[in-house]
Amino acid sequence: MTDAVPNTAALTAPTAAASTPAASASTTSASHADEPATAGPITDPAAHRVLTGDRPTGPLHLGHYFGTLRNRVLLQDQGVEMFVLVADYQVITDRDIADRLAEHTENLVLDYLAAGLDPERATIFAHSAVPALNQLLLPFLSLVSVAELSRNPTVKDEIAHSSQAAVNGLMFTYPVHQAADILFCKADLVPVGQDQLPHLEVARTVARRFNERYPHTDGSAVFPRPRALLSEAPMLLGTDGGKMSKSRGNAVALGATEDETARIIRGARTDADRHITYDPANRPEVSGLVLLAALCQDRAPEAVAEEIGGGGAAALKRTVTESVNEHFRPLRARRAELAADRGHLRKVLHDGAERANAIADATLAEVREVMGAI
Ligand code: TRP
Repeated sequence: MTDAVPNTAALTAPTAAASTPAASASTTSASHADEPATAGPITDPAAHRVLTGDRPTGPLHLGHYFGTLRNRVLLQDQGVEMFVLVADYQVITDRDIADRLAEHTENLVLDYLAAGLDPERATIFAHSAVPALNQLLLPFLSLVSVAELSRNPTVKDEIAHSSQAAVNGLMFTYPVHQAADILFCKADLVPVGQDQLPHLEVARTVARRFNERYPHTDGSAVFPRPRALLSEAPMLLGTDGGKMSKSRGNAVALGATEDETARIIRGARTDADRHITYDPANRPEVSGLVLLAALCQDRAPEAVAEEIGGGGAAALKRTVTESVNEHFRPLRARRAELAADRGHLRKVLHDGAERANAIADATLAEVREVMGAI
């Protein structure tokens, strides 16, 4: 298959917010400034290396599945080299301890495998298990100013929503850590949501400045400048009409049972109009449910809404529950089988870390060499 990747078109220009750090870079050169921060459709899968990741803070939900997970599987199946990182150190950016870390990490791997990521083709690993990756953070931190770090809009937002009394240093610097996540394996494509674009911009800035400051003796660059692969997938709302989130209790987990799914959907917020339509701007709650059913049925949301018509919220919720349970039945069956073998999940992480460590060691050696370290 050499076609463009479905659902991963990324033809939009980077947002103004995302380009702010680069614009302020004193060393910006004209040739680099013109390069788009987002990638278009992929025409040559073998020419790319993709890195993505998640924090192990709880089970993945349907928003993750339609937002990124199924795209990762598509990319893998197209022959793009995949690295999928469990960002366990990132958990302690906005909380004191990483609660039930081993369990959440294993369950993340479980969700990945159930969704179709294949550990033979995709390298799945936890970043805490790759020391050389973390060591890249030191030279990288020297390439960004404190003012740039404090301007990052996503970090600002996370700080605003944090329940912690004080912002810790890891929270403040984690976009640079994320640059290390991406650059240790020289990934050139990063599938992300819109909110992660400022972080990708940090990774691009770090790569550019490192290459300018520390070229190889033949003038070649150590790092590629990674680009974002924006998902076309519409954002799914939670059952309360807010952002779908692990922590808000408004999401259906991938691994939920059929009864749990029915219960959560039954509790979803709707509105007083019995006639079901797809109108995201004016009826976000109802439209979110229609969209979920449509994604599961692989149909247009308008068609799903029309079919339900005057059936009201009860008919809508019945349709959504049936659609979700039917669509995810095979995935959930696979997940249940895999869940019985925790040893296998550990082995996937162990093998992934071994591959990641070999690559990180080589990159760190290259970094130390161009810096002139003995
Ligand atoms: N910040 C991402 C999240 O919260 C997880 C992540 C860590 C990541 N490192 C990454 C994503 C590198 C993409 C690339 O979900």
